[in-house]
Amino acid sequence: MNESSSESAPLIRSERLWLTTFSMSDAGPVFEYASVPEVSRYTTWFPHTSIRDAEEFLRYALSERYCWAIRLYADGPVVGAVECTSEGQGERSVHYVLSPQHWGRGLMTEAVDAVIEWAFTADLGLEWIKTTVIPENGASIRVLEKCGMELLGEVSEEWGKFSDPVQLAVYGLSRATWDRHSS
Ligand SMILES: CC(C)(COP(=O)(O)OP(=O)(O)OC[C@H]1O[C@@H](n2cnc3c(N)ncnc32)[C@H](O)[C@@H]1OP(=O)(O)O)[C@@H](O)C(=O)NCCC(=O)NCCS
Repeated sequence: MNESSSESAPLIRSERLWLTTFSMSDAGPVFEYASVPEVSRYTTWFPHTSIRDAEEFLRYALSERYCWAIRLYADGPVVGAVECTSEGQGERSVHYVLSPQHWGRGLMTEAVDAVIEWAFTADLGLEWIKTTVIPENGASIRVLEKCGMELLGEVSEEWGKFSDPVQLAVYGLSRATWDRHSS
């Protein structure tokens, strides 16, 4: 559900990361990772083939209320993105991508953990964070598990990039479970 942004997403800090707003000047670094075919293997989007694709993503990111650039220092280049999208009353989903140069260092677990903590402590009336993932995307499933998400079921979706419906695993974390584990 599109949640248009008149204000920018709040800065979120974690041990190693700065989650900041995007700017149109981020197109170069976004194109660098989003053009790697392996990065979009399990995502709804195709690999970027020109800087215009990155600019289109940035226009989307800037129009979304809660979409963050992931940076390793305050004004460093973008190394990924994480968003926390409204799915209706009391529910949000998380979506994320990281430059392959930085895979396997626990960075996305750190980013998603920070966004989950922000989302449950901000005044959003949030009861559930859920997300869907292609079951073959082992690294993403591991990130969700490390962030305390549990497998809730499965769902079939039409994605423009595939001719057949995609079978997805649904993962989620309720406020009640988060409260229990974070106190
Ligand atoms: C998924 C993604 C965000 C993970 O980022 P990351 O920073 O490398 O993740 P982390 O280092 O925090 O954790 C990755 C975990 O997955 C594990 N892993 C890596 N590849 C795996 C695989 N093929 N199968 C199972 N587990 C795998 C790692 O060992 C690690 O777990 P561990 O800490 O228990 O050892 C990154 O690979 C990415 O951007 N992929 C492309 C975009 C994408 O698929 N986004 C998600 C769409 S749902």
